[in-house]
Amino acid sequence: MAANAKAAANKKPTAAKSKTTAARKKPAAKKKAPAKKTAVKKKTAKPSAKGKGKSESGYSDKSPWQKKKSARKVAEQPLMKALRAEHRHMATVMQLFADQLKAVEDGELVDTHVVYEIMDYMVSWPDRYHHPREDLIYGRVAEIDSKAADEVDTLQRDHDRTATRGREVLRDIERWREGEVSGAVVAKSGRNYIDHIYEHMNVEEKVVFPHIESVLSLQDWRELAEDDHLRAVADPVFGPRVQREFRNLTRKLRRNLRRGVERGTMVEWIGIEALMESLEVLSMAYESARNSASDHARAAWEDCQDMFRDSPLTAPFQCAANNAKLTLRLLEDVAEISRDTYGDLSRVNQERKDRVRLLDR
Ligand SMILES: [Fe+2]
Ligand SMILES: [Fe+2]
Repeated sequence: MAANAKAAANKKPTAAKSKTTAARKKPAAKKKAPAKKTAVKKKTAKPSAKGKGKSESGYSDKSPWQKKKSARKVAEQPLMKALRAEHRHMATVMQLFADQLKAVEDGELVDTHVVYEIMDYMVSWPDRYHHPREDLIYGRVAEIDSKAADEVDTLQRDHDRTATRGREVLRDIERWREGEVSGAVVAKSGRNYIDHIYEHMNVEEKVVFPHIESVLSLQDWRELAEDDHLRAVADPVFGPRVQREFRNLTRKLRRNLRRGVERGTMVEWIGIEALMESLEVLSMAYESARNSASDHARAAWEDCQDMFRDSPLTAPFQCAANNAKLTLRLLEDVAEISRDTYGDLSRVNQERKDRVRLLDR
C-alpha cells in the first residue's frame, strides 16, 4: 500500500481544507504526531522527487494510513458511498474541463459559460460540502488512530489549498472572458488544478478511504451520521434539481453522455453486422469446399467406372493414381478457398474498424 500511496500521489496534485469546519476541531491525537513523523522519515529510504519522502502535495511515501491492518471491516457506509459518488462526479466534470481546455489551446470555439460554470461548481460545491465532510470523518479517524494524525492534517491542509487554487483558476477564467488574459493562461492553471484534484482523489480512494473503513466501527459511523454537518446535501448539477447557474454545464455533460451512448450503440451494431458478414463468408467457404469435394468424388467414381470398362486388369492401379491426382486437386481447391476466406474476413474486419474510426471524426 505504500507503493499505492506513492503512485497515487505522484499521478496528480492535491486539494485543500474548507472553511466551514467542524473538522477544524483538532484531533487530540495530533499532538503525538511528531514522533511518528520522524519514524516515517527514517523508514522512507527511497526519497521522492522532492527529496523528503513526500509528494508535491505533502503525502508521505510510506503512509501511516496503511500500517493499521484491522480485521473489523464493516460494509460500505452511506457516507462513504456518497463520497465515492461525489468523486465520480468531480472526475466527470474534470474530464469535461480537460476537453474544454484542449479546445481553448487548439483555438477552437468553446462555450465560455461552460468553462466558467465548471470552476464555479468546483468552488461552490466540492469545496463547501465534499471536502468539509471528509475533514470531519478524517478528524474522527485521527482521534482513534493517532498514527494517522499527520496524514489527516496533510489532507485537511490540502483541502484548503484546493479551495484557494480553485478560486484562482476561477479568477483566471473571469479575466480570460474579459479579454485580460490569454487562453493559454487559463489552460495552464486549469490543467494544474485538474492534476491536483486527480492526485488528491487518487490518494483518498486508494489509501485513505480503505483505511477509514478499517478503523471506524459501526458505532463510529452511527455517531457521525448524527452530525448535522454530515447530512446529505443535494448536488446542484448531479442532484435531483439542477441549479440555474449550472444549466450550461449540465446541458454539456448530458450531451456528452448521450453522444457516448449513441457511439456505444453504433459500435455495437457495426460489430454485429461484421459478425454476421463473417459468418456468411465462412458459410460460403464451407459450401464451396463441400461442392468441390463432392465434384471430385463424383469425377473419381466416374473415372474409375470408365477405367474398369476399358481395362479391368489395370483399372485398380489407374483408379488409385487418378484418385491421388484428384485428391491433390481437391486440396489445392480447399487451400484456395481458405485463402479467399481469410482475405474476405480481413476485409470485413478492416471495414468494421474504418466505420468505427469514422464515428470518432
Ligand atoms: Fe478530499
Ligand atoms: Fe474527496
